[in-house]
Amino acid sequence: MNQRDTLKVNNEGILEIGGIPADVLVKDYGTPLYVIDQTHVENMCKTFVDALNNNQINGMICYASKAFCNKYIYEVINKYNLGADVVSIGELYTALKANFPANKLIFHGNNKLEEEINFALDNKIKYFVIDSYYELELLDKLCQEKEYVQDVLIRVNPGVEAHTHHYIQTAKTDSKFGFSLDNGDCDLFIKRVKDCKNVNLVGLHCHIGSQIFESKSFEIAVDKMTDYYKKCNDEFNVKFSVLDVGGGFGIYYSHPDPKMTYNDYTNYVDVICNTLKRKVQQLNIQMPYLILEPGRSIIGEAGITLYKVGSVKSIKDVKNYIAIDGGMFDNPRFALYQAKYSVVAATKMNDVCTTKYSIAGKCCESGDLIAENVELPNMQSGDLVAVLSTGAYNYSMASNYNRNLIPAVVSVKNGVSRIVVKKQTLEDLIKNDV
Ligand code: LLP
Repeated sequence: MNQRDTLKVNNEGILEIGGIPADVLVKDYGTPLYVIDQTHVENMCKTFVDALNNNQINGMICYASKAFCNKYIYEVINKYNLGADVVSIGELYTALKANFPANKLIFHGNNKLEEEINFALDNKIKYFVIDSYYELELLDKLCQEKEYVQDVLIRVNPGVEAHTHHYIQTAKTDSKFGFSLDNGDCDLFIKRVKDCKNVNLVGLHCHIGSQIFESKSFEIAVDKMTDYYKKCNDEFNVKFSVLDVGGGFGIYYSHPDPKMTYNDYTNYVDVICNTLKRKVQQLNIQMPYLILEPGRSIIGEAGITLYKVGSVKSIKDVKNYIAIDGGMFDNPRFALYQAKYSVVAATKMNDVCTTKYSIAGKCCESGDLIAENVELPNMQSGDLVAVLSTGAYNYSMASNYNRNLIPAVVSVKNGVSRIVVKKQTLEDLIKNDV
């Protein structure tokens, strides 16, 4: 467990989050329950924003909404002056409904729909990140109809391989995202963008992957992107002013991930900024406006999911299972990526771990597990299980598979808890059924 002031074990051996024991949260709100340690989210926001400011580079930290999207998170990040990236009309709508400033929103996505483009244009968001000829033509046409000129970035695929699970790597030469630098695709696209009267090309974007620990990957990406930025200004007669190098900073899930500290994230930003400064000097260009898009690192470790154990099953000489009241409908990451999590017995934190358990979800699917072979104390029905680092890509990837209800989200800070997303109701499940 990555211990911090707001995540600890109290004298009774109970996991305490934001000053509130897990069993108290469960008594008040039930299970399964997504708990967000707001202090940790705020510290992460401050860490990124301060790191950028301390490097004296003009830019913006844009939270990647896809990691965890609801009105609550936009309110928190807005307090700390972050921007946000959105990838659908749903994320955009949620941000606007939370009074998030449209001029701090960036719109990503490899296949934005006409309805989505129109909605974003009508709300005057800051940048579109264009990802295809199809989108370019549609955007140009819709802008023309509205007599509007939209600032855009191009999604570039710099061909940098980051060390991470291959399903969540997005910038190899073969990728559904972006225009490749290495095979000339991007050059051709830029020439086409320049012919469009209603889009104003202001810079480049890349995102090299997710759950990356190697800061060298970011260094290489910034190096390549800045070279290309300069080449565009020289050869294609564009006036770039923005460089967006995406997100992807890793978090601690379980051994052997590094136990990340706030300083480690400051270091990532420093590496990116120092590389950029060096390149700017070497290439003799103006410092671009720098955008970073961390998602997982802002919300991931702040999230903890609490479950209650139901059935306990031992298969002699094979395995022990504990079944929880959640599963792949609230956290599909084991089923999708074999993602590893730290799992603890939330009310038996000081008991000796004697047994290996696999944590089974309640969906009708053998692959519905949360973790395998976790060492825990002797577990019984009714015990509480906490799965750590579930803030990112859990709530946002939740589904109603098997018509299970998406759990509530509770935020905790300084010993006070509050519901920020209500648990779905049975009525919610059928309200669109005709
Ligand atoms: N910017 C862009 C353009 C992205 O595509 C992503 C993530 C991010 C920023 C934020 O990356 P982060 O800092 O969160 O790593 N569902 C997968 C993760 C997919 C990430 C996709 N893009 C998972 O559960 O691991």
